[in-house]
Amino acid sequence: MHVVLTGGTGFIGSHTCAALMEAGYDPILIDNLSNSTLEVHRRLEEMTGKRIPFIQADLRDPASYEDVFTTYNVGAVIHFAGWKAVGESVEKPLDYYHNNLSGTLQLLSLMEKYKVTRMVFSSSATVYGTPQITPIPESHPLETLNPYGRTKLMLEQILLDWFHALPSMRIAVLRYFNPAGAHPSGAIGEVPTGTPANIMPYITQTAAGIRPKLRIFGNDYPTADGTGIRDYIHIQDLASGHVRALDHINGSPPMYDTFNLGTGNGWSVLELIRTFEQITGQTIPHTFAPRRPGDVAVCYADPSKAESVLGWKAVHTLEDICRDAWRWESREAELYHSR
Ligand code: WQD
Repeated sequence: MHVVLTGGTGFIGSHTCAALMEAGYDPILIDNLSNSTLEVHRRLEEMTGKRIPFIQADLRDPASYEDVFTTYNVGAVIHFAGWKAVGESVEKPLDYYHNNLSGTLQLLSLMEKYKVTRMVFSSSATVYGTPQITPIPESHPLETLNPYGRTKLMLEQILLDWFHALPSMRIAVLRYFNPAGAHPSGAIGEVPTGTPANIMPYITQTAAGIRPKLRIFGNDYPTADGTGIRDYIHIQDLASGHVRALDHINGSPPMYDTFNLGTGNGWSVLELIRTFEQITGQTIPHTFAPRRPGDVAVCYADPSKAESVLGWKAVHTLEDICRDAWRWESREAELYHSR
């Protein structure tokens, strides 16, 4: 089955592409390269030994990618494309609404035009806002604290309205917790643009000497060691969750459902640093800084619905995340310096 991956050269899209091919799917990548590079596409073809159709296009310009739906018999779309930096979304809300909302609306109209009835949508635990209970179930109240989170919640609601209007649709919404790590081959991984907002790439860049030290945002949270707790999920587990979701909707009558993709465990920032140092032998110089606006104290998933309905469970450990993230950073640093 041909599956269109929007945002296909991004961190999650590229790893899902590799996992889909292993499962016998035929991915087609669409990306505007605003937050990724063509090198990712080259490496995916090198890793898999297969050609992978790639279209450089912005979803807001349907004419630039409409012929994907006439060239291929597209069975499903996995929609990753979107900007996801919380802080940036506060500074540039209109950019986020244009990119994340308008792009998606153009995509949905093309799907409707060409009768593509299967969709997996990349959402985020950010739609839960400040957790009222942990672990967080899918039934948790939804609220959003920033423009980025609001685009994700609005898009979930748009998809639900669309499903009610088009009863032939099969839609799975996946709410990611904290994706981290890299493909074990070291060939693909997280490529942050500029200064990393997320902690894992900041840690690996600190270990590589690219950053002098890590600032820990807040050590006065109501947690055992005072630092924030998150559910770090290995990118390979996230990728397999997408394959299982696609398998599920393929075999399902029309549906709309949401699933948490997390491990069900929470680790503090200090626990993450300690694990990284133990696994890699690298030291992470760090200082304590004030809390980051918008951060919550504790956020980790109840993944039991994905386990029971999708037959999916995260299998990688925090140690695996640290090991694979460091292999990726070290290899990239080596390649960078060899250029
Ligand atoms: C994790 C922990 C920070 C950086 C964000 C988005 C979320 C999703 C994942 C898209 C927190 C602490 C971080 C640093 C630190 N993205 N930290 N120093 O904020 O949980 O989630 O990324 O879907 O929507 O909100 O991830 O990696 O930024 O932070 O101390 O330099 O690390 O305070 O406790 P977050 P994060």
